[in-house]
Amino acid sequence: MPYSHIVTLSLWENTILVKSEARAEILNASALSIPLKSERVTVTVTSPPYHNAIDYAKHLNSKDWYRGNLGSSLESYLKEMKECFVEVQRVTKKSGFCCIVIGNELSNGTIIPLPHLITNLLCSDDTWRFHEEIIWNKVTGGLDRFGVTIQRPFPTYYRANIMHEQILVLRKGELEHTKDEQSKFVIDEVMKKDTSNSIWNIAPVPPKYIEHPCPFPEEIPLRLITLYSNKGDLVMDPFMGSGQTGKAAKHLGREFFGFDLQKKYCSLAKRRIEKEELHVRASLVAKWEKRENRQEGNLTP
Ligand SMILES: C[S@@+](CC[C@H](N)C(=O)[O-])C[C@H]1O[C@@H](n2cnc3c(N)ncnc32)[C@H](O)[C@@H]1O
Repeated sequence: MPYSHIVTLSLWENTILVKSEARAEILNASALSIPLKSERVTVTVTSPPYHNAIDYAKHLNSKDWYRGNLGSSLESYLKEMKECFVEVQRVTKKSGFCCIVIGNELSNGTIIPLPHLITNLLCSDDTWRFHEEIIWNKVTGGLDRFGVTIQRPFPTYYRANIMHEQILVLRKGELEHTKDEQSKFVIDEVMKKDTSNSIWNIAPVPPKYIEHPCPFPEEIPLRLITLYSNKGDLVMDPFMGSGQTGKAAKHLGREFFGFDLQKKYCSLAKRRIEKEELHVRASLVAKWEKRENRQEGNLTP
């Protein structure tokens, strides 16, 4: 057995990214009807609403609690998601991709498995093919559900802190490879030790850091756009929120088209895409150590 278990997680600075400029277009519109001609988009990187998890209008227009009480039925939510992602499929190029960041929903102590329901909804009739599944490990974040277990340390009281979401990578039709020299990416330590795996360790955006209730970290679209598109391609986010996908697309020299139902989020995204630099943080990578002279059956480090 030449290698030991993972012994530490260490911070690794990302390869310095060279900023480039590309066109970005933002629209206050619904994902139900995408104002684009068919087969234009190379990759969509998006995160739709998580069913009843957040009332965005309430977040913008009142000081009331805006989480977890929209009261929409699961059937109507899934119907809307199906319509939106059929539209995304229409505007996607042949062999293009759609990456959906989505997590389970908690409802009165029961988990609604939204990633599984959406995969089944979109892939069972071949609208999309299920290309890859990545687990986003939030490393430092999560709902503090384990508090229940600390208060009552008895069997059946266990509730796990929720530290992950899924990144569903869907493909339109057959896979076609491209080898564009300009878009070749660097195989650095983060790529070799984190992006390479089906679990990505990326810390979430700290609370209230951006004026949106649930932005995903820029590292997610940065990785996905790098992996699934070439320079100059069109990247789309139909549920754009604060514009994280647009920022990453612009930085990587891809065109961007994004929209959101809420006008205020569109203004926020526009400002951020036009003016803000990318905030790529140091990544956590697993460090494997080679062990010489390990005796068979001895698992101590
Ligand atoms: C989970 S958030 C996306 C956050 C985004 N990924 C970011 O990093 O900021 C979902 C967004 O979808 C928007 N939205 C909800 N329904 C929509 C629809 N039918 N069409 C377009 N946008 C919609 C909400 O206003 C919200 O900003």
